Amino acid sequence: MAGELDPRAAGARRFDGQVAVITGGGQGIGSATARRLAQEGASIVIGDMVAETSDRVCAAIREFGGECVISLGDLSRWENAEALMRRAMETYGRIDVLANIAGGTIWFQSFQYYTPEQIQAEMDRSFWTAMWCCRATLPHMIQQGSGSIVNIATHAVTGRFRVPYAAAKAGQIGMTTSLAREVAHLGIRVNCIAPSGTAADDPGNAPRPRCGSGRAGATGVGAGRPAAVPGFNPQLGNTHGPARGS
Ligand SMILES: NC(=O)c1ccc[n+]([C@@H]2O[C@H](COP(=O)([O-])OP(=O)(O)OC[C@H]3O[C@@H](n4cnc5c(N)ncnc54)[C@H](O)[C@@H]3O)[C@@H](O)[C@H]2O)c1
Repeated sequence: MAGELDPRAAGARRFDGQVAVITGGGQGIGSATARRLAQEGASIVIGDMVAETSDRVCAAIREFGGECVISLGDLSRWENAEALMRRAMETYGRIDVLANIAGGTIWFQSFQYYTPEQIQAEMDRSFWTAMWCCRATLPHMIQQGSGSIVNIATHAVTGRFRVPYAAAKAGQIGMTTSLAREVAHLGIRVNCIAPSGTAADDPGNAPRPRCGSGRAGATGVGAGRPAAVPGFNPQLGNTHGPARGS
């Protein structure tokens, strides 16, 4: 067995025998979550749309002695969310954890500069991925009478220059509170976390530069992000373009 994936696990095995579906598991927070849950005993199903990064995480987990499979596809499409849960059920027979981590800001600019296509892309990436995956996993958790879903919002719901992203993540908060009340009596927990700027401890991460009043710049753009759209913001100067994280 290879060395520790995360020395902070300190031998904990809180997920022994459980199956965890991690969306966005190919890099960043999703990768760190997949590696940590695997180290604590979970069998992992990575749902991501980038093969290269997902393969790397999966290989690290297997090298450690853990179980991991991948379902590749754009999770903003219902059929790919359904295929992800089917892959988990066919491989491991159950789904104990769904960590809905796929998402992230694409652009950082005043709202009047967002095109309809950009707004749609932000909603697809940071809202529909989670909505479809919640819906696709629920029948399996209801059948089991147990399960835990964790959605990931952001402190940026109260920030500026990312209105579509803020709306997408606020939508996830609403989805979480409503669904949690609906399924608690079925033994299913639904929670949402809202981190601030987070640099996951992932050796495969690209460097993440900062500029302006937010996190912006082309060189830190994550795998799977749509291409940059050039522009200029009169208030912020040249911080217009694809953003990262929070
Ligand atoms: N990093 C931060 O500072 C921060 C802070 C608050 C919230 N968040 C949220 O945490 C999550 C992870 O952030 P990160 O910085 O680790 O992101 P990241 O860009 O490093 O990784 C995102 C992963 O999700 C995958 N992905 C994106 N869209 C997808 C889609 N439609 N279908 C399938 N896979 C898709 C990407 O391929 C990538 O592997 C995001 O939802 C983000 O909004 C991040």
